[in-house]
Amino acid sequence: MDSTTFHRVAAADDLSDGDVIEVKVGDDVITVFRIGDEFHATAGICTHAYARLVEGYVEGDIVECPYHGGSFDIRTGKAVASPCTVDLKRYPLRVEAGEILVGIEA
Ligand code: FES
Repeated sequence: MDSTTFHRVAAADDLSDGDVIEVKVGDDVITVFRIGDEFHATAGICTHAYARLVEGYVEGDIVECPYHGGSFDIRTGKAVASPCTVDLKRYPLRVEAGEILVGIEA
């Protein structure tokens, strides 16, 4: 049984290409990225240490952590540059009627 609940986090129009926002749903800190017309949601905190990825640098589909320069593939959450070795959690995301919805498992 699917126990994922979708929560509205922003309007799609609030983000332009390359924009990043941080949202909180319950206890989860989540980063939402816009790449072109795609939206992606990942964990908001770097897996290396405590850095907020919303303060990182986005280049194409890569986000570089602001602390030690590790980076992740935004589309997959995969850690792609050291010192990051643990992938970012990804959250299901959908856009409905212009609203960005992020799925949280109950
Ligand atoms: S906290 Fe992100 S690379 Fe170290």
